[in-house]
Amino acid sequence: HGTQTVNEEGHLEIGGVDVTEIVAEYSTPTIVYDMALFERRAKGFVDTFEQLGVKAQVAYASKAFSNIALYQVAETLGLSLDVVSEGELYTAVRANFPAERIHFHGNNKSESELRYAFEVGIGCIVIDNFYEIDLLRKIATERNQKMNVLIRVTPGVEASTHDYITTGQEDSKFGFDLKNGQADRAFQQLKEDKHLQFLGMHCHIGSQIFEVDGFVHAAEALMQKMHTWQEEDHFICSVLNLGGGFGIRYTEEDAPEEPHVYVKAMTEAVMKLAEQYKYPMPAIWIEPGRSLVGDAGTTLYTVGSQKEVPNVRQYVAVDGGMTDNIRPALYDAKYEAVVANKMNAPKGTVVTIAGKCCESGDQLIQGARISAVENGDIIALFCTGAYTYAMASNYNRLAKPAVVFIKDGRHQLVARREKLEDLVRLDEALPQDWLEER
Ligand code: LLP
Repeated sequence: HGTQTVNEEGHLEIGGVDVTEIVAEYSTPTIVYDMALFERRAKGFVDTFEQLGVKAQVAYASKAFSNIALYQVAETLGLSLDVVSEGELYTAVRANFPAERIHFHGNNKSESELRYAFEVGIGCIVIDNFYEIDLLRKIATERNQKMNVLIRVTPGVEASTHDYITTGQEDSKFGFDLKNGQADRAFQQLKEDKHLQFLGMHCHIGSQIFEVDGFVHAAEALMQKMHTWQEEDHFICSVLNLGGGFGIRYTEEDAPEEPHVYVKAMTEAVMKLAEQYKYPMPAIWIEPGRSLVGDAGTTLYTVGSQKEVPNVRQYVAVDGGMTDNIRPALYDAKYEAVVANKMNAPKGTVVTIAGKCCESGDQLIQGARISAVENGDIIALFCTGAYTYAMASNYNRLAKPAVVFIKDGRHQLVARREKLEDLVRLDEALPQDWLEER
């Protein structure tokens, strides 16, 4: 993965930094990001559009990992940002991310969230439902402020080659149905709005998708709808947002395409239909999350206790678990790991790497083939850059891990480890008289 190497001492190095050095400085668990790899992934998307000669925006889906430092880097790489809450938007504002490059998503944005988006002067709001159209109209009229909008539609594409998180099917909580007239009604309500500037459509068919076809079919379905609006209403959409969802390789068993393959295939499908319909080529927007940060992240843990269940399995327990990576417990997600301070030792043993939470299901990897470990060894779990820290909890009152960026031999803390006092900062102690009452 990325810029990983093994040094003379048999230690894993990421971006030119010995991970034992990271552990000595920041302790464990710590999530490190190989920022050279993140940049390569971002450039891969941006360059693909440039080569195709298509106007585009690559919006980082920040739900995968929302953090001020990451937003700063995303900004310098020319990425846009997809946010889904006031909290993510606030984080972007705190990172001085240009508001006009931020898109706001969500199936239940509150009035105060939408007002905040207007105040900030966000670039685009992706409308999910009729309730939101009314809310936005009210706010925009009151403020007498224009706002770019897209509508999110469900194209009825069932992406089903893997157990991914599908969202494009008709029975979805997201978006307007493309086929039963909902999208048309939304379009009719918006096309001549004075404040809400209707740019076009958005769809997102799911996440961790390997097959190119689903993206192409979705792009074609949206283009067909745009063509009917062209013919019946003489309306031309300037933007087609095809979402994210490009799969990555967590383990040997995953076989995704290179990220640019998806982008190229769906863009070329749009170009072909645009030519056929004599439709001015819309700008293509995408929203990759996982494929930008997923494989750039590695979680470092320290081995503590071990337990043998004779003839069944060997448990190796680490100092984190479902609190810093819920994906194995929640989605049965698979990962690969190494003993980062013993990279040259033979990988003889098959173990279950377990977390430290009080739940049997708190297992990070079942059947991990690693070298023999003793307590104090460092386990590196790969491809943990997306939906790990972002979904972290304080279950069992475990502290959230530290996050460190690495680039060109340099490391930089971008989220400090939670301290004990952080864990009680929201608690309010009861007054004495409450305790004295019987
Ligand atoms: N755009 C929209 C509208 C989305 O809903 C999502 C992800 C993305 C873009 C980014 O998708 P990506 O490129 O990262 O696949 N927690 C789950 C993934 C949930 C994805 C939700 N939406 C996981 O850990 O696998």
